[in-house]
Amino acid sequence: MRKRLIVANWKMYIETPDTAKRFITALKRKLARMSGVEVWIAPPFTILPTLPKGSYKLGGQAVSAKEGAHTGQVSAGMLRAAGASFCIVGHSEQRAQGADAEAVRAQFASVLKQGMVGILCVGEEARKEDGSHFAQIEEEIRSACTGMQAFANKIIVAYEPIWAIGALQAMQPQELEETVIFIKKTLSQALGREGGLKIPILYGGSVEGGNAHALLASGVSGFLVGRASADINSFGEILTTCKK
Ligand code: PGA
Repeated sequence: MRKRLIVANWKMYIETPDTAKRFITALKRKLARMSGVEVWIAPPFTILPTLPKGSYKLGGQAVSAKEGAHTGQVSAGMLRAAGASFCIVGHSEQRAQGADAEAVRAQFASVLKQGMVGILCVGEEARKEDGSHFAQIEEEIRSACTGMQAFANKIIVAYEPIWAIGALQAMQPQELEETVIFIKKTLSQALGREGGLKIPILYGGSVEGGNAHALLASGVSGFLVGRASADINSFGEILTTCKK
């Protein structure tokens, strides 16, 4: 039985090590009573090394592709040394600040080369009647994944339609199902059928306890959760829905 993967993207919602530790204590209590669900947490850089080890994995929210003299940046090697075993790459909030396709590919490669799991975020700004938004999703997958076959077992794709992030409503499960099929097809073209079809696909964008059940029916392996991941009660509701 494959566990469902729920990744908490804390963004800057949880600001201090003390708040984070309280969250973790409550999370551990919840996880002790659950099976079939796996939790990964991406705290801010300042909190990552302060968190205790547990039955969850820790990771970064973003990464620099370059080493050396780059003020304010954190490399994949530094993340690993601080306890990260995965990193979110190409989140739309990073792309909006200037991370273009080339930068995202380089960041993704640096994470994978460090032996960490790379969670590649892809997603369209808006849905178009004529389906042309699929081209953006395809391009984001191709530009980051082509040639990465050797790392296929360390790749996860998080599909996050930008219009659904921090929104009032998540995507409709029917539309999600169609997009998941499209992403699988694109991944098998970029990475070969064998590797491509095994890649877990997460959904992100206004996931909460109330919509998680319906969204799971679309064939995703789990969720990347922003807002609702920073409050232990809302996060707990999602976990309860996802456990087996
Ligand atoms: P949200 O964010 O759950 O607050 O919509 C998801 C994300 O940005 O990863």
